[in-house]
Amino acid sequence: MGKLPCALLFFLLFTNPAFSWKKEEFRNCDQTPFCKRARSRQPGACPLTATDVSISGGDLVAKLVAKETNQETPTKPLVLKISAYQDGVMRLKIDEDPDLNPRKKRFEVPDVIVPEFSDKKLWLQSLKEEEEENSGLISVVYLSDGYEGVIRHDPFEVFVRERGENGKKVLSLNSNGLFDFEQIKDKKDENEDWEEKFRTHTDSRPYGPQSISFDVSFYGADFVYGIPEHATSLALKPTSGSGVEASEPYRLFNLDVFEYIHDSPFGLYGSIPFMISHGKSRGSSGFFWLNAAEMQIDVFNGNNSNEFLKLPSDQKRIDTLWMSEAGVVDAFFFVGPAPKDVVRQYTSVTGPTALPQLFSIAYHQCRWNYRDEEDVYNVDSKFDEHDIPYDVLWLDIEHTDGKKYFTWDKMLFPNPEEMQNKLAAKGRRMVTIVDPHIKRDDSYFIHEEASKKGYYVKDKTGNDFDGWCWPGSSSYLDMVDPKIRSWWGEKFSCKNYVGSTPSLYIWNDMNEPSVFNGPEVTMPRDALHYGDVEHRELHNAYGYYFHMATAEGLAKRGKGQDRPFVLSRAFFPGSQRYGAVWTGDNTAEWEHLRVSVPMILTLGLTGMSFSGADVGGFFGNPDTELLIRWYQLGAFYPFFRGHAHHDTKRREPWLFGERNTELMREAIHVRYMLLPYFYTLFREANSSGTPVARPLWMEFPSDEKTFSNDEAFMVGNSLLVQGIYTQGAKHAEVYLPGDQPWYDFKNGNSYKGGETYKLDVLEDSVPSFIRGGTIYLERTDFDVALLKWQMILTLWL
Ligand code: NOJ
Repeated sequence: MGKLPCALLFFLLFTNPAFSWKKEEFRNCDQTPFCKRARSRQPGACPLTATDVSISGGDLVAKLVAKETNQETPTKPLVLKISAYQDGVMRLKIDEDPDLNPRKKRFEVPDVIVPEFSDKKLWLQSLKEEEEENSGLISVVYLSDGYEGVIRHDPFEVFVRERGENGKKVLSLNSNGLFDFEQIKDKKDENEDWEEKFRTHTDSRPYGPQSISFDVSFYGADFVYGIPEHATSLALKPTSGSGVEASEPYRLFNLDVFEYIHDSPFGLYGSIPFMISHGKSRGSSGFFWLNAAEMQIDVFNGNNSNEFLKLPSDQKRIDTLWMSEAGVVDAFFFVGPAPKDVVRQYTSVTGPTALPQLFSIAYHQCRWNYRDEEDVYNVDSKFDEHDIPYDVLWLDIEHTDGKKYFTWDKMLFPNPEEMQNKLAAKGRRMVTIVDPHIKRDDSYFIHEEASKKGYYVKDKTGNDFDGWCWPGSSSYLDMVDPKIRSWWGEKFSCKNYVGSTPSLYIWNDMNEPSVFNGPEVTMPRDALHYGDVEHRELHNAYGYYFHMATAEGLAKRGKGQDRPFVLSRAFFPGSQRYGAVWTGDNTAEWEHLRVSVPMILTLGLTGMSFSGADVGGFFGNPDTELLIRWYQLGAFYPFFRGHAHHDTKRREPWLFGERNTELMREAIHVRYMLLPYFYTLFREANSSGTPVARPLWMEFPSDEKTFSNDEAFMVGNSLLVQGIYTQGAKHAEVYLPGDQPWYDFKNGNSYKGGETYKLDVLEDSVPSFIRGGTIYLERTDFDVALLKWQMILTLWL
């Protein structure tokens, strides 16, 4: 097949809305050997014991040795290290022993942990050994005034417990004896077949199986949350255990999923292997595994096994099983105990949300595509005409010359600088899209340089990897290499990016990476990166490095440019330092509006405060009521952008008749009124990690009624928002927590806290309430930037 028909075929396959989510294009756990193997293991299968436990270099170190070996278990000892950090953070590393010359150094994800984290290390001086009635020998180290880290020797288990008399466990690893570490074999047995086949693709797996799995238990937990990205509820539903219908585990594998469904544990565009638990008795704790390979996580219903846990009967827990295809164990235990403590502890490792510029937290107008300069000017002036504020106008892939990023289609956009300057004169910015697939066209300067310098990811034979994406035949820059990132960053200078101006910002899309003809629409796992790292080892971090390179490049453009705005679709722990993310290609359906809330709240809990969902839904045409409800809810998303697929009807807010324009205008005005409040919240996220949009239980941690509520959420500590998720809704049930009053945001009516109300639903707003006893800053007239303080008086009912 020639190039053009093939490109056309892919274009049709991936852009025709008649196609919907194709389950069979993606692997399930049974088709994924490491997942199948880990799920089939029985509690207590781990034969490892900890030996040679001692303090060395300020850490607890030990060896993990198999009591008896069989084919399943490692023959060589593993090395284990436990380190303590300020604020109740414990780090556990387990790897193959480098002194035993393993065939390959396993991948440890670089440039995610912030450098400041190492300053927080506590130098462990000593350990105490105790003989416990039920557990046998344990070694204990100091973690903080309230907590200690413990390793049980036989069978090995690592846990954090409270100090003092009852020594209650907080978090533990391998309590169920499910730990498994497939060591890289020196050579293949004749009878072994290391290749893996999926559909038409073969993964050569030159190093054979190298997976790791283990169980983690959260004590005193009523629910667990986190591990984005899935379109599912906020409180994670059990995927296994008694009374649970067999389900797929939660998958963490960055994928470009066409028309994803609204309730599924299936992995979407980004991955953050960080789980947070919460319970009425204990509060919160957290567990983070820094690992960029495909991961699958099971949440058990109730306790997985009691056999290896000699727990006091009052100590309930939630068991989970973590499975990864490759890498090492580099895990962090966060003691909490308040939800905000856990998020602060997590962001002390991966960094805080960058403080965005004010314009970027205002309203963004996007569409695939604004066709040409005339279209841009027209849309821009219509916003003014209709008295609708907006700050940023976006250009999707069609603005380029043949999907060659950093170029312009000269017919459609002959004067890009003038266009940006005209919008900038009104205080507005533009955003253009820059994706990671580089068109293999010898006349394209990026391709020419990248191929000459050897900057592309290689295929398994050592040639530049060649896959299909928007431009047709494409190669992908190897962003894990800092040198290539810095080369890429330079491309954003106004000199190098011809036609750009300082008011232009960037959108990174398709960076999972999306490869239309690759296995599961991504890069083959045996592709090779800098340092001989296989793609399987870093897949989930590819988009993160691309985002990082882009943001760092923009920050170097010149004076006053050090707070860039870059939106990314793929993400990984730490992405919050480089910009915003959104929930990808959702659909114009009520259920997608509903699931946007738990998706955004989950992102916030895992460090990604700056996130949003396409307002209106990307695929399909929302009816007017849905579109309005989406604007009314989206005005409270941390990132607020309207966006649509090119096959959809135009849906700018003035196209639906006067009354509807008025309703959308009003929703957007609410966001502008609240901008100072949002900005303050972003500063809070930037300094403490506390998300801008929060689950109710983060503000009301002892109120059980809030624990699984993901229809309402808090914006900061003062504003509660309840979405409307059904067509023609006349009433909404709203639970207002706490023992302070609440005030209706629209009309000031007061409500007693701690009650559920059935309220009339109005067409002009979604229910929202200000918490008594709080002060928020309201911007009453954004044109003249007049700020007014409005005080909500505390009137305790
Ligand atoms: C996929 C993105 O998710 C979507 O937002 C964008 O419009 C298209 N790619 C085209 O660039």
